[in-house]
Amino acid sequence: MTDTSQTLHINGRSVSLPTGLFINGQFVDCKQGARFSVQDPATGKTLISIAEGREDDVDEAVRVARQVFDTGEWSASNPADRGALLNKLAHLMEQNKDDVIALECADTGKTIQQCSTLDFPGSVGTLRYYAGWADKVRGETSFNIPGTFAYTRREPIGVCGQIIPWNFPLMMFIWKIAPALVTGNTVVIKSAEATPLSALKVCELIAEAGFPPGVVNLVSGYGRTVGSAIAHHMDIDKVAFTGSTATGRAIMRAAADSNLKPVTLELGGKSPNIIFPDADIDSAVEWSAWGINMNFGQTCHAGTRIYVHQDVYDEFLAKFTDRMSQVTVGHPFDASTNQGPQNSQMQYDKILGYIDSGVKEGATVHLGGKAIDKGNGGYYIQPTIFTNVRPEMKIMREEIFGPVVAIAEFSSEAEVIRQANNTPYGLAAACHTKDYERAIRVTNALRAGTTWVNMYNFVHWSVPFGGYKESGIGRECGEAVLENYTHTKAVYFNMGIPCPKV
Ligand code: NAI
Ligand code: MG
Repeated sequence: MTDTSQTLHINGRSVSLPTGLFINGQFVDCKQGARFSVQDPATGKTLISIAEGREDDVDEAVRVARQVFDTGEWSASNPADRGALLNKLAHLMEQNKDDVIALECADTGKTIQQCSTLDFPGSVGTLRYYAGWADKVRGETSFNIPGTFAYTRREPIGVCGQIIPWNFPLMMFIWKIAPALVTGNTVVIKSAEATPLSALKVCELIAEAGFPPGVVNLVSGYGRTVGSAIAHHMDIDKVAFTGSTATGRAIMRAAADSNLKPVTLELGGKSPNIIFPDADIDSAVEWSAWGINMNFGQTCHAGTRIYVHQDVYDEFLAKFTDRMSQVTVGHPFDASTNQGPQNSQMQYDKILGYIDSGVKEGATVHLGGKAIDKGNGGYYIQPTIFTNVRPEMKIMREEIFGPVVAIAEFSSEAEVIRQANNTPYGLAAACHTKDYERAIRVTNALRAGTTWVNMYNFVHWSVPFGGYKESGIGRECGEAVLENYTHTKAVYFNMGIPCPKV
């Protein structure tokens, strides 16, 4: 049955939103008729309820995605036409910008400021970037083997399962679908149950842009049902996931237990941020504050372990504390807000639990450390700085995913590199120094997929992004991700080579 749109009232706007699953180019009810409610983290109240997919809906979405893939209507289409459609979607997103941003902020608690300057332009920019790749993915030829010539073709993988998290719902949706679509794959994607709204709106625009039905299918729902069904599916050819390391392991296991589909994972982090004594301290303070404040710490590459050289420790700590004290915690739609509510009750409880563990393990709460009760049920937490930390403490080892940063002192470059790398994660790392030889030495030594010099939390869609160690497998963004969405096929031609004698 076809699902109808509902109207949401957000910050003085009326935003219409389809609430069904998006399968075969239409919004439909879940086969079992299930629905689930979606919360506003600024109040803890229900915003809307939407269709909740189950395993049989995944089966239907995969069936459709397979059928479309096999016709070649998309997979063998003129790549320039696929690029044009991605550009059209980018254009429609811009035309609907205020609605998309309103939905994203109400659903996630993101500030309107961050969403307008980062999430939204990052999503549109990614679409346009991959649109440009449409007619540039190609193979190689070899005439170096006497008696033959060979060439390679880059072919789409097939039906791609994609599972995304709640911290950057719009951007992760686009990061996932854009490279998959431009290379001719079809997609079955699951949004996060905490933040499913912007994906629904974008699917409406996908239909409006004129993508062939069934090329993109969205099954909203939970990880244990929809996510698990995607990971285990025997007719999904590849799965791409962003989220926690624990769930990443479960997805890899599911792939191994089913059809050995290739898996790419973008997982958690516990990223170090190193301040050398010759750094521009004011600039290092600013970037380090952004390192934790961006999305209120709910960022996989957040700079959660700050190491400061002993010669500048007191100066850095004083200035950093002052800077973090100026962070305005408030309602996402208030233009002066720098930090909104945390994404969910689950996340709020988890962050407060980590703060408690830091105190119990003997660290000092240097700033913040408490929830903020604004009297309206929102999940607000003070920007928090821990000092007197030791490497074995939970707050130094585990991903907190909140506005909580730990600061430690160091005395030598070799020592700080050892400490920085002393983690099972390897997503990102930064150093602040004016000595560029040191910067090259240190970034070379840091075991992380993204490193920064004199900046933090800067990720551009044109540069590969991904993790070392338990932070993931494979790269997103840049040309690198196109490898994940194409098979390379070799074709040999006989140009007179004799058949070997048997
Ligand atoms: P999660 O990794 O469980 O959720 C991410 C996505 O995976 C969601 O769409 C979820 O529905 C799905 N999922 C859950 N279980 C699944 C399963 N068995 N099979 C397939 N899909 C499944 O993360 P969660 O529980 O929402 O957050 C817990 C912690 O994970 C956070 O506090 C944070 O530390 C970390 N996290 C890291 C992210 C990152 O970008 N690195 C993003 C989200 C969470
Ligand atoms: Mg929500």
